[in-house]
Amino acid sequence: MKRVAIITSSDMGYQGKREDLSGPAIKEIAEREGYQVVSMDILPDDRAMLSRRMAEIADENQAELILTTGGTGFSPRDVMPEATEDITERKVPGIPEAIRAYSMTITKRAMLSRATAGIRKKTLIINLPGSPKAVKESLEYIIGALGHGIEIMT
Ligand code: MTE
Repeated sequence: MKRVAIITSSDMGYQGKREDLSGPAIKEIAEREGYQVVSMDILPDDRAMLSRRMAEIADENQAELILTTGGTGFSPRDVMPEATEDITERKVPGIPEAIRAYSMTITKRAMLSRATAGIRKKTLIINLPGSPKAVKESLEYIIGALGHGIEIMT
């Protein structure tokens, strides 16, 4: 089964002050690739809230894949990598390495993403950057390779 949960980290989105375009961009690409989107959350840039939700999805076996967007940059409120590392058991460095390597061919600002990836139980968690443009570029590049990893993991 290929189920994906999408989490947007955005104070403005959570407060309803900015429309989340990145979550829906992930949904479109994931569905095109055959994934079933089981949940879409918009949460504030809050390390504990983000990690709690990710752990819940993994522990309750709600999805094989969690894709997050936002909160990977240098702003003091950007804590998605820390929230992810708080609750993952095994690191998957190759995925953010691949995203950054590819994204560097588009913009040198790709080096400013602190995104990480890891596994908790039978759920792979991948951070993507926040802008719809960056999300599309990153996810379209990696998504084709994920199915094999998910098969082995589950
Ligand atoms: N990756 C791709 N493919 N395309 C982009 O435009 N923007 C970068 C980077 N990664 C970008 C990208 C920028 S400007 C930043 S600040 C970081 O992602 C972190 O973004 P975030 O804080 O929204 O997560």
